[in-house]
Amino acid sequence: MQRLNVRRLPWPTDWAALFGAERPLVLEIGFGQGHFLLHLAQERADANLVGLEISNRCLTRVERSVERQGLRQLRLVHSMAETALQFLFTPASIDEVHINFPDPWFRERHGHRRLMQRNTLDLLVNRLRPGADLYLATDIRAYADMSHELLAATPGLDNRLDAPWVGSLPGRVVTRYERVAREEGRCCYFMVWRRNDSPPPPAPRAKELPMPHVVLQSPLSLEAMRARFEARQWHHGATHVSCSRVFLGERSLLFDVYVKEANIDQHLALLLLERQNRPGEFTLQPAMYGHPRATEGLHLAANALADWLLSLDDGTVLLGRKTRGPDSEG
Ligand SMILES: C[S@@+](CC[C@H](N)C(=O)[O-])C[C@H]1O[C@@H](n2cnc3c(N)ncnc32)[C@H](O)[C@@H]1O
Repeated sequence: MQRLNVRRLPWPTDWAALFGAERPLVLEIGFGQGHFLLHLAQERADANLVGLEISNRCLTRVERSVERQGLRQLRLVHSMAETALQFLFTPASIDEVHINFPDPWFRERHGHRRLMQRNTLDLLVNRLRPGADLYLATDIRAYADMSHELLAATPGLDNRLDAPWVGSLPGRVVTRYERVAREEGRCCYFMVWRRNDSPPPPAPRAKELPMPHVVLQSPLSLEAMRARFEARQWHHGATHVSCSRVFLGERSLLFDVYVKEANIDQHLALLLLERQNRPGEFTLQPAMYGHPRATEGLHLAANALADWLLSLDDGTVLLGRKTRGPDSEG
């Protein structure tokens, strides 16, 4: 079974084409050892099931079961849920979501790494189709309180229960975390919310941009440019770019770049290449190592490096720039 990865799938993904059938799209976020997801696959032959998980160990383990059981309508994706929700799914495209026992070290975790938080929930609600159900289970009372507060303050969702949560849901399969919680005498809290018809919260686009591309003319040699380089950082809103090293190749400079954006981090290389038969002309573009994706942050990195190169010498001029500014539309 070929592992799907958010970095390699099309943005957004045409799930009906990937599954070969138009069926309701059901998601489990952080499936762990897969008990819930595998059980769901047995019960929901009517659905296209997607499991999102960051742990390679969990993916390998559950992939084996998927293969053994021949579950063709279940696909596992190696991704942070936040990244997948932003880039793989279009607004109002998901029919059901399950989140079982997220963030087990809740109190020790910094808020920004928590799955249940305002930005991620808004993104999730944006991707839910009206009528879609969101199921959340936790065994941490403080997490249940925090989640209920967040969910109740979300205009796009209505509580399907008469109370903030229930202690069990009939017919629900027991996951590993639930079993451990019960064995240790802890309660479980189950919540069910439904997407209503109110307008979706604003959320980042799922669309991928074209690759950035800049053409420069400079009297400086690649060696001279490298000699002027110092580690640099650029920031715009929630996007941070750092370029800490540069390497000199035969006809190129390779800039080692780290791009950190709201729902995705990328470690990639931008290449400054001498143009064939055009002395003094250079193109700046992403190197195709490591499968870079054309996010707004990658465009910020290309723009910032191009501006730095242009600042090196009065004789350096811009011949062409195919990049997106941070506030451009499209
Ligand atoms: C506490 S375990 C629960 C596993 C399973 N759902 C259960 O109930 O037994 C949380 C799981 O979520 C995964 N996880 C945590 N944060 C995630 C994120 N942002 N995106 C995707 N998976 C995540 C972890 O790797 C882990 O497997």
